[in-house]
Amino acid sequence: MRTLALLTLLSASSAFAAVDHEAAFKADIAPIIEKSCANCHDPKKAKNGKVKSGFDSSSLASIVKGGKELGEGITWGDVSKSSLYKTINLAATSPDDDMAMPPKKSHEKNPPLTKEQVAKVKAFIEAK
Ligand code: HEC
Repeated sequence: MRTLALLTLLSASSAFAAVDHEAAFKADIAPIIEKSCANCHDPKKAKNGKVKSGFDSSSLASIVKGGKELGEGITWGDVSKSSLYKTINLAATSPDDDMAMPPKKSHEKNPPLTKEQVAKVKAFIEAK
């Protein structure tokens, strides 16, 4: 009886220890993406419903999957293999790069991410 109670306790605590990516996405990341990316990467907002470069930012699942050219949008734990991070980081380091997101010429309608927002996305991808 005692063993069973202990096992139940252990499995419950490990379930809580794991990061809930979906909840963290909704709370911290989705609002940033809605503001700076959705105009071109959400099928409901993009011209003719076609998202740019196959990158659909409208759900966590489609972001993880990524677009046509840069591979996975999110590789959990590794920002160097996550196009979501690589493109927003490029905007800070090489703003003229075609893959710097949001594109420089669109900043009036699609605000570039602040340093704090870029750090938030990094922490989100690296959280375990
Ligand atoms: C004004 C429209 C526009 C906005 C806003 C925009 N993008 Fe893009 N995005 C593009 C275009 C155009 C490309 C293709 C660039 C190329 O191929 O040179 C692209 C490509 C990408 C890719 C590469 C997909 C692949 O693997 O092929 C990613 C990832 C991406 N964008 C993420 C974002 C993120 C994240 C944001 C918001 C921070 C954002 N974009 C905002 C137009 C936009």
